[in-house]
Amino acid sequence: MPEWLNALPKAELHLHLEGSLEPELLFALAERNQIALPWADVETLRAAYAFNNLQEFLDLYYAGANVLRSEQDFYDLTWAYLQRCKAQNVIHVEPFFDPQTHTDRGIPFEVVLRGIQQALRDGEQQLGISHGLILSFLRHLPEEEAFKTLEQAMPFRDAFIGVGLDSSEKGFPPRLFQRVFAKARSEGLHAVAHAGEEGPPEYIWEALDLLKVKRIDHGVRASEDERLMQRLIDEQIPLTVCPLSNIKLCVFEHMGQHNILEMLERGVKVTVNSDDPAYFGGYVGENFAALHQHLGMTEAQAQRLAQNSLDARLA
Ligand code: HPA
Ligand code: ZN
Repeated sequence: MPEWLNALPKAELHLHLEGSLEPELLFALAERNQIALPWADVETLRAAYAFNNLQEFLDLYYAGANVLRSEQDFYDLTWAYLQRCKAQNVIHVEPFFDPQTHTDRGIPFEVVLRGIQQALRDGEQQLGISHGLILSFLRHLPEEEAFKTLEQAMPFRDAFIGVGLDSSEKGFPPRLFQRVFAKARSEGLHAVAHAGEEGPPEYIWEALDLLKVKRIDHGVRASEDERLMQRLIDEQIPLTVCPLSNIKLCVFEHMGQHNILEMLERGVKVTVNSDDPAYFGGYVGENFAALHQHLGMTEAQAQRLAQNSLDARLA
């Protein structure tokens, strides 16, 4: 990666902590927790990271998360991510975590949260990385389950800056989560949501109008709807775009087809993020490098993308 790219101060606004679980740590945690894995070794697991769509990735992502059991495991996961950030001059992070992935396996909410929170605090003190944590609801589960998760979170209200919506997009439109998002907003939490990754532009409209989100996660399919594009530009609604993720999950066939720089040049507030770096082949720095290599992103464009990420912070 060119040094000028690495040196740019950046914020990461779209990162699933569970998606930063590198195969080496996954194997180490499996051993620590005496969990038998279906993969022979790290190389076999890495070789399984070939996906045709979002769901194929999610199946492996949830299987991988099964090794996370103790507060220390969640600490180690988060701390490893923050060290990667430090190395790439990521100075602020607003990561997601999926409580339901863990509470549904019998891991107490507070075990997950305490481990993550302690690492984020240490990251602030020891690495100088500021943060705001986002609790993400799994959209393939009913809204009632999201309400239960929000209730579990409320004793720790100050640990979060907002709520998000992730997991399988198609067939699970934002409108299904209107009530739980209204409740979260009434508690003073910001709203963000994945929309327009695999789902149609209509889902982006719903996220804006019904969930009242402050940012759209992904949002790349907005380019199919000119009226929506104009709104994103007029209202300067940030999109947290994840280029390597989009290629790995076949949202675009190859990086040369990615629309992030076209959106940037039209005045959309796009940002660069890694989504699930352990699964998609790189952290924020590698995502910037891919845009430079395959789309000819200039230094001036990189600066604007990095500035957008700092401007779009919610914490
Ligand atoms: N999309 C939806 N859900 C997710 C993703 C994603 O890219 N990564 C982790 N959960
Ligand atoms: Zn995501």
